[in-house]
Amino acid sequence: MADATRVLEPERWGGIQEGGRGAAPADASLAALAGRRGLLYGAATKERTLRNDPQFAAAFARECAILVPEYELKWSKLRPGPDRYDFGSADRLASFARAHGMRMRGHTLVWHKALPVWFDEKVTRDNAERILRDHIDTVVRRYAGAIHSWDVVNEAVRLEDRLPGRLRRSPWYDRLGPDYIRIAFEAAAKADPNARLVYNDYGVDYATRSEGRKREAVYGLLQNLVSTGTPIHALGIQSHLRGWERRFDPLELQSFLRAVAELGLEVYVTELDVSDQRLPATIAERDAIVARVYEEYLEAVLDVPQVRLVMTWGLSDRYTWLTEHRPRPDGQPVRPLPLDAELQAKPAWRAMARAFSSAADRGGV
Ligand code: XIL
Repeated sequence: MADATRVLEPERWGGIQEGGRGAAPADASLAALAGRRGLLYGAATKERTLRNDPQFAAAFARECAILVPEYELKWSKLRPGPDRYDFGSADRLASFARAHGMRMRGHTLVWHKALPVWFDEKVTRDNAERILRDHIDTVVRRYAGAIHSWDVVNEAVRLEDRLPGRLRRSPWYDRLGPDYIRIAFEAAAKADPNARLVYNDYGVDYATRSEGRKREAVYGLLQNLVSTGTPIHALGIQSHLRGWERRFDPLELQSFLRAVAELGLEVYVTELDVSDQRLPATIAERDAIVARVYEEYLEAVLDVPQVRLVMTWGLSDRYTWLTEHRPRPDGQPVRPLPLDAELQAKPAWRAMARAFSSAADRGGV
């Protein structure tokens, strides 16, 4: 297991924890506008995309102060076998971040999805805790010092499963029960005492009954973790928004985020995008609605001072998971991100720029 770690010493990635703003972003970039308010802005990307598309890589380096690997740190990619680690593409992303003075987030150490093919057969009730601890220890140590924050546990709450604590019936829950969450946070804290440790989830944005219940359940989980002394520092809200959804209530979202902040936690927007799946066909109309959603949402969340970080799930419409996951019925390419497929700023970019510029100053990042 130690084999892969020898390829590159972990120290290699250290040193950008605090002063990582070497290459100052261009004045008019989202990173620069956010940075002026003490906010961090960045985006998710795949390593292959940066490598194959230099124009995109340049836009990425210009607009973002922080990067999150879209799948390179997930188990399915990192763990080709029960005793093997493949850090190749995650290492290249860490190098890219470092070379451009950007920080990096870690996504994600525990999730019910993106598990390797061998998982079901090899991971049992008896060895699950050891395998989980080994994984977290090895991965988190490797990038210690380079990672701003880790999504330690992703999407652990699911009301439909009717389990105690309103947890999801996940492969980890099946093997370890609710304790897997505490185990994961403790292992991560031990492996990198400086990274901020995050619980990340979706479906807490809208004023619907089901999202209201999800907010309560997530709050309950956080309260439980904090009161038992589990090392957790922030809630990540994924913020995959739907452009056609009208049931948004800024006050309701803010009161949830303020309650989370009162627990002593920061709040990160971790995967923001705005689906245009059910929006009108005309591009001008669609872009205007998507931009309005970005602005309203960011204005609402940035009103809460503990919101310190905003990441979009992708930067340009050229590369977005929504092409596959939320395609338009009319077959037109989707337009959910701040840059269009030609890497030009869209109304959504300008909406984000306005929201960042009118946010209150957080004081140094
Ligand atoms: C998505 C990636 O973007 C896709 O490329 C992949 O096929 C599936 O996963 N919530 C998360 C992310 O926490 O990890 C997901 O990323 C999107 C939803």
